[in-house]
Amino acid sequence: MAGITIQNLSKSYGGRHVQMAALSELNLNIADNQFITLLGPSGCGKTTTLRCIAGYVTPDTGSIHVDDRLLSSPQGVVSPEARGMGMVFQNYAVWPHKTVHENIAFGLKLRKLSAQQVRDKVEQALVLVNLKGLEARYPNELSGGQQQRVALARSLVVEPDILLLDEPLSNLDAKLREKMRSELKQLQRRTGITFIYVTHDQSEALALSDQIAVMHGGRLQQFGSPFEVYTKPSNRIVADFMGLVNFVPGRVAAIDAGQAIIEGEGGLRLQAAAPTGAAPGAPVDIAVRPENITLAAGGGTPGAGVIRERVFLGNICEYTVALPGGASLRVQTHPLQQFSEGEAVTVTVDASQCSIFPREVAQSDRAAA
Ligand SMILES: Nc1ncnc2c1ncn2[C@@H]1O[C@H](COP(=O)(O)OP(=O)(O)OP(=O)(O)O)[C@@H](O)[C@H]1O
Ligand SMILES: [Mg+2]
Repeated sequence: MAGITIQNLSKSYGGRHVQMAALSELNLNIADNQFITLLGPSGCGKTTTLRCIAGYVTPDTGSIHVDDRLLSSPQGVVSPEARGMGMVFQNYAVWPHKTVHENIAFGLKLRKLSAQQVRDKVEQALVLVNLKGLEARYPNELSGGQQQRVALARSLVVEPDILLLDEPLSNLDAKLREKMRSELKQLQRRTGITFIYVTHDQSEALALSDQIAVMHGGRLQQFGSPFEVYTKPSNRIVADFMGLVNFVPGRVAAIDAGQAIIEGEGGLRLQAAAPTGAAPGAPVDIAVRPENITLAAGGGTPGAGVIRERVFLGNICEYTVALPGGASLRVQTHPLQQFSEGEAVTVTVDASQCSIFPREVAQSDRAAA
């Protein structure tokens, strides 16, 4: 059992005068035997969170418990070695004076396994990360991606209760990254180890996770399954970060029993849960993903648009459609459904897949993300 409870965790860096909050009031309940991903742009506090969980950083406020055991608080932290956790660091810090084999075997030797057991486990780990044949090399004789895999093997081989992985696949080529991604997922299922995985790659997070914690500016924005965070983003930031999205300007036309009628540019009209505090007339943005818009030949009103740009991507076709009010939409269709640039089309938006957010003052990113 190794569930993690993070309560009200904050951390600032800097001197006495200039303090910068890297992490603000993070609350997260991570169940045992889960694959959790911390996802967000560079500088949003992912590594800081992981370092707090690992015990390398003392929080300014809050606490971290594993099961019922208090591991971190401003009063003190249990040392990293005494936490039963493994960590793969973002810069993959492997020991330069040890060979690949020695790097991977180190933790096993500390645990006093027999020489045969050490050999077997190192062998398995080498196969897992595709490094067989390189066991006698030193890190300076390896590529960045190979060093990263040594770091991964070294932390996996000791089978910790909790494994913390900070962008562990960032230096691998696309094909190997996909292979390792599926190996990691299987490994998590097989071992029941709780994985906390850090990435800024949303497709990696969607593919791997049971739950995703989307972070921005040191704050948790949403914690939910990949399906939830993709289809029901809790705010604009999440909608924007989790793939492609159009923000169509609109306003609340009417509200009845918590349901709002929203009118958007280009004749869009849909019914949705009313945004908190919204009143009739309130400006909103309708967030809709390109795959939830359909196009039909021929203009008509409402919903008329004109194809501005067409990009054939093999498995999909992506169109930019200009709407009468000046907004434009990114739309993805089946590749065999072809329209030409300049053609008039009827645009239909799947209202059940739209999210409505109060309009923000800054509107520089108001069209397609
Ligand atoms: N030791 C430190 N001293 C001062 N500021 C720091 C320190 N470590 C991190 N920061 C700052 O705290 C913020 C969060 O950093 P963190 O490393 O947690 O981000 P991250 O989400 O892991 O980003 P990346 O994806 O680039 O690795 C950043 O603004 C960073 O500059
Ligand atoms: Mg980081």
